[in-house]
Amino acid sequence: MIAPGRAIGVLGGGQLGRMFAQAAQGLGYRVHVYEPSGPSPAGAVADRETCAPYEDLASLEAFARSVDVVTYEFENIPSEPLRVVEGIVALRPASSVLHVCQNRSREKAWLSANGFPHARYAEALGGDIGEAAGAVGLPCVVKTADFGYDGKGQMRIATEQDLAQASAIFRGRRCVVEQWVDFEREISVICARTAAGETRTFPAAENLHANHILDLSIVPARIAPQVEQAARRLAERLAGALGVVGLLAVEMFLTRPGDLLVNEVAPRPHNSGHWSMDGGETSQFEQHVRAVCGLPLGPSGARNPTVMVNILGDAWLRGGGAMAEPDWGAVLAEPRARLHLYGKPDPRPGRKMGHFTVQGSDIEETLGLARAIKARL
Ligand SMILES: Nc1ncnc2c1ncn2[C@@H]1O[C@H](COP(=O)(O)OP(=O)(O)O)[C@@H](O)[C@H]1O
Ligand SMILES: [Mg+2]
Repeated sequence: MIAPGRAIGVLGGGQLGRMFAQAAQGLGYRVHVYEPSGPSPAGAVADRETCAPYEDLASLEAFARSVDVVTYEFENIPSEPLRVVEGIVALRPASSVLHVCQNRSREKAWLSANGFPHARYAEALGGDIGEAAGAVGLPCVVKTADFGYDGKGQMRIATEQDLAQASAIFRGRRCVVEQWVDFEREISVICARTAAGETRTFPAAENLHANHILDLSIVPARIAPQVEQAARRLAERLAGALGVVGLLAVEMFLTRPGDLLVNEVAPRPHNSGHWSMDGGETSQFEQHVRAVCGLPLGPSGARNPTVMVNILGDAWLRGGGAMAEPDWGAVLAEPRARLHLYGKPDPRPGRKMGHFTVQGSDIEETLGLARAIKARL
């Protein structure tokens, strides 16, 4: 057990690292953030921040030596630096987990090999999108194997014309082409797992996306109890099979016939788990701290039906391309709402700047209030 008072290292300095750091500090840990791109949202609240490239192995070694365990909030970390860290201190989840999850092609192959359900897909080495799309059928979606997030590096293909366009755009890049799933709902389950193999899942969140970016998460998800159970079991089995120590977020499609397909997995806190900061018995960030430090896991139920709404840089946009601060009073004046901002200085369209949650006793009424607040922002 890594006891409170010890130091946790976090690779990546975004909002997930920031909320993780705040939760860790709440339990008395010290937090050291490593972020290549310069002073970061997580670094701003951490006890210490190192800003250096992942390839700067001397800085990375010094970072690893300064802490008792290292975790990450971001998947796109090169493997050589991870091995360096792992040679010095425990990395949780392990680099082997990240290796699978950071590349869509490896992730899909791993899901297949381990018998987990997923949408039909084919690999496309640059230029071969036509062949892969032929194997999968239209409509489909092409996704780059590496470095995709929030729908970046993705294109839906419905027509031959789209296909020609996609072939030009993705030429020379390693991609996967996936069958487009006409889903009933999109849900996610976050599973915490300790080194001893104890697991605990949060309730499934129902996720609504806009432009491929998460817009709203709704807890409880509006699905049948047996689907909820199956989704939580699936996430537990995945976390166990991958050997995750920490959190595993599992995004799933619920198909119209009622099957669950794994869309993607992330070995870290997840945007769709932010509801738990206010509506959960334990927040996903605290649960992550508990799991990586070997503390007992916290209860993972929902205290109230909760809706989480993402606040993107788009909320700053006014007519004629002008930018202005959103009307925070719209959230702050509502006693059932809680505002979380990430301290990012420059709002840009599509950039995650913060979120708010709304709690209530009835999920439809709570969803209505959340949407009304969003419109007033
Ligand atoms: N095969 C698919 N069928 C239907 N919708 C999809 C499919 N793949 C992605 N999407 C939509 O795009 C969103 C983002 O895609 P995802 O693969 O989760 O990438 P990321 O979250 O890394 O950007 C999904 O949550 C879903 O709404
Ligand atoms: Mg996703």
